[in-house]
Amino acid sequence: MRRLETDIIRRLRRRILSFYRREGRALPWRTTTDPYAITVSEFMLQQTQVERVVPKYEDWLARWASWSALAQSSRQHVLAAWSGLGYNRRAVNLHRLAGHVVSDYGGQLPDDESVLLELPGIGPYTARAILIFAYNQPVATVDTNVRRVLIHELGLDPEIGTADLWEIARQLVPPRRSRDWHNGLMDYSALRLPRRLTGVPPTSKQSVFVGSRRQIRGEIVRRLTRHRSIGLTSVARALGQSTDTVRSAAESLAVEGMVRITGQRVELIDGSDST
Ligand code: ADE
Repeated sequence: MRRLETDIIRRLRRRILSFYRREGRALPWRTTTDPYAITVSEFMLQQTQVERVVPKYEDWLARWASWSALAQSSRQHVLAAWSGLGYNRRAVNLHRLAGHVVSDYGGQLPDDESVLLELPGIGPYTARAILIFAYNQPVATVDTNVRRVLIHELGLDPEIGTADLWEIARQLVPPRRSRDWHNGLMDYSALRLPRRLTGVPPTSKQSVFVGSRRQIRGEIVRRLTRHRSIGLTSVARALGQSTDTVRSAAESLAVEGMVRITGQRVELIDGSDST
């Protein structure tokens, strides 16, 4: 495992932290350390850009200020509030997570990584992000933005593997300033190292949306936030797809426990019966 030299660590820490002090963005989830609010922001930011998340985050927090408020809402309302962010499964998972926090953890999100990883919608990136932004824990997390900074600033091989990159990231975290450090990395990445400047390719790309299964799934869920049940054929007609294609997309939602299909009709499964 590569050990970074002390000088390199010191220089990069200084560059990122002083950049953050001078030019850090004022983002609404940075004025709080409430684990609930931080989790909402991280779920929204997983696959959606900051500018689109900001208004959605503010509306969400105004409507559901706590785990218990969210847990008491219906899946239909949660999905309606999520609309525009895409990848609806994140909303369903966030809602299910609220249910677990309330019923299994007395309304307090656990602050232990291995416990967080067992919960709906929380993978390695998000578990660490919560520990960092809510609790300032001295751990590292790497998303596509942080990855770009580390590869560019340290001159790493863009093909570097995840385990190696996370190990390097771990060595860089300033022990008492993990929160500022990670905020700084995100801002440095967004403001100083846009992808077109670095040429560092992402590990994965969002696929083309129009005509995709993701679009069909999104359209089904969008209609189900307005109607109790919908017909497969009307979705097919609206999107210019075959009913079979739409059925197959609906079946993928059914497998995830999001909807129920009866004949030609689809309805939302309420979260409360399916945790
Ligand atoms: N992307 C993921 N988490 C973020 C955060 N806390 N701030 C800015 N961008 C992010």
